[in-house]
Amino acid sequence: MKLDVEAIRASYPALADGYAYLDGAAGTQVPAAVIDAISQAHARGLGNAGGAFPASKRADEITSASRAAVAALIGGEPDGVMFGPSMTALTYRIAGALAKDWRPGDEVVVSQLDHDANVRPWVQAAERAGATVCWAVVDPQTGELPTGQYAALITDRTRLVAVTAASNVIGTRPDVSAISAMARAVGALVYVDGVHATPHMPIDIRALGADFYATSAYKWSGPHIGVVVAAPALLDGMHPDKLVPSPDVVPERFELGTLPFASLAGVTAAVQHLAGLAAPAAGRGDLSLRDRVLASMTAVEQQEQDLFEVLLAGLESMPRVQTYGRAASRTATAYFTVAGYSPVQVADHLASRKINVWNGHNYAWELTGVLGIRDAGSAVRAGLVHYNNADDVERLLTAVAELS
Ligand SMILES: Cc1ncc(COP(=O)(O)O)c(C=O)c1O
Repeated sequence: MKLDVEAIRASYPALADGYAYLDGAAGTQVPAAVIDAISQAHARGLGNAGGAFPASKRADEITSASRAAVAALIGGEPDGVMFGPSMTALTYRIAGALAKDWRPGDEVVVSQLDHDANVRPWVQAAERAGATVCWAVVDPQTGELPTGQYAALITDRTRLVAVTAASNVIGTRPDVSAISAMARAVGALVYVDGVHATPHMPIDIRALGADFYATSAYKWSGPHIGVVVAAPALLDGMHPDKLVPSPDVVPERFELGTLPFASLAGVTAAVQHLAGLAAPAAGRGDLSLRDRVLASMTAVEQQEQDLFEVLLAGLESMPRVQTYGRAASRTATAYFTVAGYSPVQVADHLASRKINVWNGHNYAWELTGVLGIRDAGSAVRAGLVHYNNADDVERLLTAVAELS
C-alpha cells in the first residue's frame, strides 16, 4: 500500500517552512495532532499522579494510555513500558540495575555498530563490576555486523548482549533475532537499541528476541521522551536505586520522579498518528491499534526504501562523493563525504539551500573510528522518514552536485 505523502506532510506544521528535513535520524518533526494532544493535556488541567481529584486521574489515564500505545508500537506489554528523559538516561539506569548482579569473570557483549548510548553504559557498568567487555566488530567495507562472530563472543559467562536494531549513521540492520537466539541459549539478556530502527519498520519485540527494547519518541513524530520496553516479569526481579517512598511496583520502580504527563499524551498521539499513515487501514474499526501500526510501518518501510534507491543512486553517481555502508539490509539513511569539502562545509552548503542534514559522528563513536573518518569530522548524514518526498531527495542531489 502506498502512503499519501503529501497529505502526511500537510499534517506537520513545521514542514511548511520550505526546508527539506533530512535530519529525521536526529529527531523528527511532530504532527499537529501531537502538538494538540500536548497542549490539550495542559489546557484541561493536570495534577500529579495518584490523587483523588479529576486532574490527577487525568494524569494517570494519560500515563496508562501512553504505556498501551508504546506496547502497540513495539509489541510488548503495557506494564513493561518504562519512560524516562531519554534512551541514554534509561540505558544507564538499566545498566546500573543489572550490573548489581555482575561479578568478575562475567562477560558483556557490545558492538562497534552501536550508538554510544548502547555501548558506554554497559562498558562503564562492566568496569565497575569487574566484568569483561567483548566487542562485536563491523566489517568496514560493507558496514555489516557479521552474525557469525557472536557464536564465539557469547559464552556461558555472558550476562548481557547489547546490540542495535539499526545503525543511526549507515543504517545497517544486524540479524538481531539470530544474535538473541544465541544469547538466550546461554541464559544471557539482550538489550536492543531500537532508537534508529523504530521509525523505519514494523517492530516486534518478541520476534527480535529482545529482553529490553529501547526507543525514543522524538524519532517517531513524538516528544522528547525515552522508552524502554521489557517483560514485566523480568523487571519484577530487578531493583534499581530508588527513593524509599517512591512506587516499588513495575514499571514505576524504574521511573525517577514525576513523569512528563503532557508529553506522554503526545506519545499516544504519535503512535495513533503512525497507525493512521496507511489511511485505508486506519479507517477499519475491526483492526487493533497494533495491527494498524504494523500496516502503516510496512508501508513506511516500502516508501522510504523506494526513495532511498533514488537518493543513493544519485549520490553514488557523483565522482567526488563517497558513501559509507553497503549492508544487505539497511534503513534509508545515507552517510557520505564529498572530496574537497569537510562534512561541516557540506552541511553548511546544504543549509544555505534550505536542506537539513547532520554532519559528524552522531555518537556512532566506535563505528566512525573503524571507518577511519572520525578525526576528519566523520561524514554527512541524510536520512529519510515517512514525511520525506521525492522533492526533498531531488533538492539534496542538486545541492550536493553543486559541490561535486
Ligand atoms: C541509535 C540511537 N541510539 C540511541 C540514541 C540516544 O537516544 P536519546 O537521545 O533518547 O538518549 C540515539 C539518538 O540519536 C540513536 O540514534
